Amino acid sequence: MPVSETFRHSASAEGPNSEQLVFGGDYNPEQWPEETWHEDVRLMREAHVNRVTVGVFSWSSIEPREGEYRFGWLDRVMDLMAENGIGVVLATPTASPPPWFTLAHPEALPMTADGVRLVHGSRDTYNPAAPAYRAAARRVAAALAERYAFHPALRMWHLHNEYGTVSYGPETNTAFRGWLQEKYGSLQALNSTWNTAFWSQGYGEWEEIFAPQATQYLPNPSLLLDFKRFSADVLRDCLREQVDVVRAVRPDVPVTTNFMLPAWNHYDQWDMAAEIDEVSVDHYPDTPGIEGDVQVAFGSDLARSFNGGRPWVLMEQATTMVYDYAQGRILARDPGKLLFNTLQYLARGSTGSLFFQWRSPRAGAEFFHSPMVPHVGENSRTFREIVELGTTLSRLPELAQQPANGNRVNRNRVGIVWDASAWWSAETRALPSNDVAFLPAVKSVHRALWFLGINADFVQLDQDLSGYSLVLVPSKLAASDAEADNLRRFVADGGHTAVWYFSGSTDENLNVRLGGFTGAFADLLGIRVEEHFPQPAGDILKLSDGSTADGWAESVELHGAVSVADFTEFPLAGRPAVTRNEFGSGTAHYFATRFGEDSLKDHLERILDAAGISKDHPAAGRGVEAVRRYAGDRSYLFLLNHTGEAVDVDVRGQDLLTDTAVYGSTVLAAGAALIVREPHETP
Ligand code: GLA
Repeated sequence: MPVSETFRHSASAEGPNSEQLVFGGDYNPEQWPEETWHEDVRLMREAHVNRVTVGVFSWSSIEPREGEYRFGWLDRVMDLMAENGIGVVLATPTASPPPWFTLAHPEALPMTADGVRLVHGSRDTYNPAAPAYRAAARRVAAALAERYAFHPALRMWHLHNEYGTVSYGPETNTAFRGWLQEKYGSLQALNSTWNTAFWSQGYGEWEEIFAPQATQYLPNPSLLLDFKRFSADVLRDCLREQVDVVRAVRPDVPVTTNFMLPAWNHYDQWDMAAEIDEVSVDHYPDTPGIEGDVQVAFGSDLARSFNGGRPWVLMEQATTMVYDYAQGRILARDPGKLLFNTLQYLARGSTGSLFFQWRSPRAGAEFFHSPMVPHVGENSRTFREIVELGTTLSRLPELAQQPANGNRVNRNRVGIVWDASAWWSAETRALPSNDVAFLPAVKSVHRALWFLGINADFVQLDQDLSGYSLVLVPSKLAASDAEADNLRRFVADGGHTAVWYFSGSTDENLNVRLGGFTGAFADLLGIRVEEHFPQPAGDILKLSDGSTADGWAESVELHGAVSVADFTEFPLAGRPAVTRNEFGSGTAHYFATRFGEDSLKDHLERILDAAGISKDHPAAGRGVEAVRRYAGDRSYLFLLNHTGEAVDVDVRGQDLLTDTAVYGSTVLAAGAALIVREPHETP
């Protein structure tokens, strides 16, 4: 009888109100002899580990030959975890097809944009559009679901790992053509939308269209954007197939897939989130110090927003290391920083913390990646900090409750637009300046708000925006009429918005809106943009209100808006750089340039004041982080001091970290944190 039959009546999937914060990490017992598993369990219990993620890249251990499964080791691991009260997030291993797959299905291997067919030797070596890969992935997912869906250790399905492979080649071309036929219906419509008359690209047959591999010079930007959308849809379909497979066996086990944040844009996170029950993310700040802390807030706010404002799963972070990718170094996290950063994630809605990885491998790729149990063993700073963190989280079960009445876990009034198409369109190489980049623009706005002490969510421009007072649009080149209409309605109904330069200059297919740039939002903003003046690198622009800016300028005409600040230098002297327009019951602001750090904060502060938006606590800002998290019918004020000096904070309630009452002025030492349960029930 399969194990799943044995456990059919005893299994309990994770409900929405887990009793504890989750704590643990990626666990790869297949890399170790079984004696080590017992050592693992002893250490896990010592550290209060209650969750492990098993099987992420274990395909060759589960299916060593095509169709031949070896579940013995996994049965024993699942049983061992169940016996020790440790829940398992069970992964499908589809991010790493085994060597037999390479030989059996060479056509399903990925091809680079330069036409190089990759072979096995690392991970993620498959073409997600290849039917053979898709079939093999469904089969192994089904085999795991059949065997373990009712196992008592199972808490959640972790489907795949960090979807993100993009491939070219014959299988991709076939699938891309099918996708285009569905989108456009006719070649005539496609030729017109892509304006293929430019450079003699008119297509007479679908077979003439190729995925955008290396070309002689610039590719067609509209084709490129469609290819990015297609590639994202392929990954979404891979996920959807696995969701269907596991839900068909047992629908009440939550499913997730882990997003790599924030630098990956191979898919649309909003679309992927719609397929799963819980959003989970992997997050690796690449800078130590306060800038790394700002990244923690950024990643958390994205994760929570993708999960509809609900608590989200931190599937991976590193324990005591920071990956400085730019310098090619792994830097040590300062003592105590692991706990501090984890409290930041918690403040912004995480359900706890999992790590990559439980134990350092002896050999293999990433053998020096930060673990919970390092090569040197339990007698280490790393493991001591892990025990401290696990013990702390185990004392905070009340934070594991969902907020009452389906409320959001943080109740922010500012929404920043995050949009995959905007990012992709800003990557299409033929734009007037690199300074229209997406991620740096969005990050700079979130960072400025963080230093102002204002917390924000991320939003889509076509969603219901009525829960927000201010919607910020830092970089949104491609914007549809429907998105523009939605923003217009939001402002007409009393909302506030700020739109940055070049946004809305094209429609959703990268067709420029004729008659004035920023065309999608021009009437809302009360302006007409006539000409762009991209700035040479390093040139600083001075505005009439003392603000500084760089990178970009425009000639803006006022059509109802008023100027808040003008450019001061030739050829734009006296022309508006910052405008404000009353529209219906709301206000729409425009920035025709890229502000320096301080000026960005000044202008955001002006707009936040006008919109009546306040901080979660008056002490917030300039490196003091204050975030109110809702759980059950209570609110919890997290206060974290990122500065090098002690600050006084006025708080009332019970500090959960020290289990002491705090009333009135309280000293928050440098690097210290409070989690104050506030005295009153919350609606
Ligand atoms: C990702 C992966 C992990 C590991 C870590 C560290 O998040 O999911 O398997 O590779 O990065 O690099």
